[in-house]
Amino acid sequence: MEKIMITGGKPLFGEVTVSGAKNAAVAIIPGVVLCDEPCRIENIPNISDVSVIANILRDMGAMVRRVDKNTLDIDPRPINTFEATEDSVRKMRASYYLLGALLGRFHQAKVALPGGCNFGVRPIDQHLKGFQLMGAKNDLINGAIISLDATESFHGARVYFDTVSVGSTINVMLAAVKAEGQTIIENAAKEPHIVDLANFLNSMGANIRGAGTDVIKIRGVEYLHGVTYSIIPDQIEAGTYMAAAAATRGKVTIRNITPKHLESISSKLREMGCEIDEYDEAVIIDATVRPLTRVNIKTMPHPGFPTDCQPQFVALLTTVKGTSIVNESVWDNRYQYVSELVRMGANISVEGRLAIIEGGRLTAAPVKATDLRAGAAMLIAGLVAEGTTNISNISYIERGYSDVVTKFQSLGADIKKVYYPDHDEVVTTA
Ligand code: EPU
Repeated sequence: MEKIMITGGKPLFGEVTVSGAKNAAVAIIPGVVLCDEPCRIENIPNISDVSVIANILRDMGAMVRRVDKNTLDIDPRPINTFEATEDSVRKMRASYYLLGALLGRFHQAKVALPGGCNFGVRPIDQHLKGFQLMGAKNDLINGAIISLDATESFHGARVYFDTVSVGSTINVMLAAVKAEGQTIIENAAKEPHIVDLANFLNSMGANIRGAGTDVIKIRGVEYLHGVTYSIIPDQIEAGTYMAAAAATRGKVTIRNITPKHLESISSKLREMGCEIDEYDEAVIIDATVRPLTRVNIKTMPHPGFPTDCQPQFVALLTTVKGTSIVNESVWDNRYQYVSELVRMGANISVEGRLAIIEGGRLTAAPVKATDLRAGAAMLIAGLVAEGTTNISNISYIERGYSDVVTKFQSLGADIKKVYYPDHDEVVTTA
């Protein structure tokens, strides 16, 4: 079993380079299915979610070649099936983007129900509503596989989402790119990776306008040509290093970022007392200037404070004197990790969607990552806590953070990955 071992108490100093955005990569790679020629995708993060989705495409017949650590060549032309039902499909949430992509290409799709991080019910009713309005009949086979069939009629539609949903917006956008006529998505999500996917699809010849606003208009096209496309930087990875810098009261330059995507995070850190200097593609966060103060946070769809930074900021707030209140308004059950922080001495109570945090001191404890961002919160807590913290279930962390151990090491953290072959022997791996 692999774990991450951190001895806390060292402020982070130095520079870290952010990788390509996970949530853009896991939409753009399935998006290649729609293309009529090979594509090269650059700035791909080195994470297990990317390997899983690349292998799913390979299993479906695509030629996928890793050019280097961050570049994939994908030729989708040999794909000759509209089915993605292997067990691997269930391993990750974003495999459901194959529904939209396969529907767009074959007017049919059969995809295993998605897995992914578990924080409450994760319905896909809005995705299905969009597909249905575009002419697809849907069926749930054995409670495990979603089947879409639009062979009789597949066309653009006006789709109003009842809730702002990243996944539904992306899925309907994928399906609509080659559908006949115009699709209008209303109450669309506006996250940077939605804009990135639209830019990628447009660069291949798609006709998408309005991505990044709450109305997206897509006029179907017949042919998409191959492109070389570079994925945007990961806003959440950047936010995680910013929270870690603040929690350890360090000073860190974060490179390869888009400062505009970080506005909600930067402004919250400024409110806490951090100095933030923004450059074209970098940000410097300095938490050494004055004592940090408590804040309240409410997570919201973009451009609000991202839910995917909520656990990391709760970990940060456990180190700040006073009472902070966090309101999780996107997910109904994203506080499962709180009991792990409490094991480290944090004083947090959860009431429904609110977490009430009384700042204090953290001490090391054996903890586990209960999901990806929860794992990031454990890393931050471990960097601050007195003593040596062991984090288990690190495969969750590796789903979404590229080279996380070496990146923190480069900032001066006392962190390593350890392998426990059995209960007695500990072997260091990285
Ligand atoms: N929702 C519905 N019906 C739907 C779809 C969503 O009610 O058909 C609800 C959800 O239950 C939730 C809200 O709408 O309460 C937002 O869900 P959304 O669809 O936006 O989430 P998602 O697409 O499943 C993506 C990210 C998540 C991130 C959310 C919100 C990917 C692969 N995942 O999930 O990222 O938390 O958007 O920003 O893009 C992560 O990276 O750690 C992660 C979990």
